[in-house]
Amino acid sequence: MTSNESRKPITIGFVNQKGGVGKTTLAVHCAYWLSQRGSVIVIDADAQQSSSNWLKDLNLPCKVINDPEDILDILSVLPEKYDAVVVDGPGGMSEVTKAILYGVDVALVPCKPSALDTHSSSRIIRMIRQSQKIRGGKPKAAMFLNQAVKGTLLLRDSKEMLKHFGFPYLNSVIYNRQVICDAPGQGATVWGLSGTAAQAANKDFEGIFREVMEFAHE
Ligand SMILES: Nc1ncnc2c1ncn2[C@@H]1O[C@H](COP(=O)(O)OP(=O)(O)O)[C@@H](O)[C@H]1O
Ligand SMILES: [Mg+2]
Repeated sequence: MTSNESRKPITIGFVNQKGGVGKTTLAVHCAYWLSQRGSVIVIDADAQQSSSNWLKDLNLPCKVINDPEDILDILSVLPEKYDAVVVDGPGGMSEVTKAILYGVDVALVPCKPSALDTHSSSRIIRMIRQSQKIRGGKPKAAMFLNQAVKGTLLLRDSKEMLKHFGFPYLNSVIYNRQVICDAPGQGATVWGLSGTAAQAANKDFEGIFREVMEFAHE
């Protein structure tokens, strides 16, 4: 991050009405990655509170907020106090998701590489586009593939599908790795785990978050 970038606060929301696509996993890893570069706080907007519990183990600040008005209020003040604010979105097409989209600079949509999941993302994309119309193009938004399996036809097809979706997407892909699944149980991110599997996962996350920062500032 350049000194210029580090001065400008950024708010990033991980959103998708589908559960189990990786919003929490990516939000927590993104927050940890950003915390190595500046101050960061997470808003856990999911009633299940998985990220806030995980973040306690990581000693990262987190606020649990499920009320749409409160989310909008907090998103208007937190960027004055932190270099980065990361929002872990809830499942379902809720008013909370709408509030996140009205409040963040960047919205990221994790998506599992399957035709069904990519298609079901059309609902969140519609909501993002509505917000972009109202907010003069904000939030900047992109989809990306999580839990991909290397070398599969499904991954190739999903990449093709993303291309034809007519919505920005990140080139980086997060692969399906057991170590990512194990991390919350160990109260760690993959950076806190040892072994080659953890190193491979580190590289995936490093790659995607670098791309996110470039995307956010381009
Ligand atoms: N890249 C990945 N590789 C392996 N497991 C993953 C990966 N991403 C997410 N998971 C696992 O999938 C499950 C759902 O992920 P989660 O982040 O909780 O999704 P969401 O917040 O969208 O509901 C969790 O058990 C998580 O550990
Ligand atoms: Mg979650």
